[in-house]
Amino acid sequence: MGNPVEVIQSVKLDDENSTLILLDQTVLPNETIFLELKEMEDVWDAIYQLKVRGAPAIGIAAAYGVYLGTKKSNAETYEALYEDFKKVKEYLASSRPTAVNLFWALNRMEDRLKKEAGKNVSEVKAALKEEAELIRAEDEKICESIGQYALSLLETGWGILTHCNAGTIATAKYGTALAPIYLGQEKGYDFKVYADETRPLLQGARLTAWELQQAGVDVTLICDNMASIVMKEGKIQAVLVGCDRVAENGDTANKIGTSGVAILAKHYNIPFYVCAPLSTVDLECKTGEDIHIELRPSEEITSKWYEKPMAPKDVKTYNPCFDVTDHSLITGIITENGIAYAPFNETLPKMFQSNK
Ligand code: MRU
Repeated sequence: MGNPVEVIQSVKLDDENSTLILLDQTVLPNETIFLELKEMEDVWDAIYQLKVRGAPAIGIAAAYGVYLGTKKSNAETYEALYEDFKKVKEYLASSRPTAVNLFWALNRMEDRLKKEAGKNVSEVKAALKEEAELIRAEDEKICESIGQYALSLLETGWGILTHCNAGTIATAKYGTALAPIYLGQEKGYDFKVYADETRPLLQGARLTAWELQQAGVDVTLICDNMASIVMKEGKIQAVLVGCDRVAENGDTANKIGTSGVAILAKHYNIPFYVCAPLSTVDLECKTGEDIHIELRPSEEITSKWYEKPMAPKDVKTYNPCFDVTDHSLITGIITENGIAYAPFNETLPKMFQSNK
């Protein structure tokens, strides 16, 4: 048996000082810095700049952000407070478009606000704080449950390939795709994890390799274009990835490059699993065609991370931040309520019905 894995908390509330505390994921692995954010503009910027990133962590940060923004309001009536809330909500919703958890968390905060109708302003503010704390606490349990279901599909000693970072720092705790790795580590499974570096922002190299190494997991970093060779060499028995939005038919948006990994996995007959909290499943999107894919600045491709630019000046670039993996390439979608298999448009809605 391994030791309990110690994990870092990437999003915290310091209510006394009206501060959101975020692990700055842009400076890892070289520095471990916690940012102290007080203004909603700083929260917006932290989400946009990927200082906080990963769908569930973005949702948690937005929930705390909307609470802190509303807490500052000088409104004296419920109605006036609601108006201020709406401004903060709308502003934070414009930070990133693809991860549905952002909108899910903001809507959930609004639902709570509506439930408090008629109460005085300080009671409503307290309720918003409670809701944001609930979103964080529930995410921890959800990730653990995803991890248990995912672990039931894996065998000791397996090679697991993952893309981007769907780990503990992308969630409240454990992560989604990395949750079974942590739980397996605690139970003495001997997984060999292969982490795609994940161009252009290197979440695999900077974050996944870092957090798994810290937890004592056997992790090997590869460049994205090496996924095929490790699969061909028989080093990979399963692929596990996270997601930013799952459509009703199972089409899944995740970090750019994920769909290529799924195509490779199909070719090599390796199961490809998506780990998805139900907050990431968007039944209003019928297919992946309905998912808005974020485009990001060129410098992420041409010059970021390099001492000198590594592309000719003014070269045209195309930098979509996510891609959509076709549902036909997905072996199973692992949620906190169980594992959905094709046809996903029948099995995914049922996962919501079994909500505990
Ligand atoms: O642009 P990012 O780093 O926020 O993209 C994150 C991902 O694609 C993750 O795989 C996804 O959000 C799941 S995190 C549990």
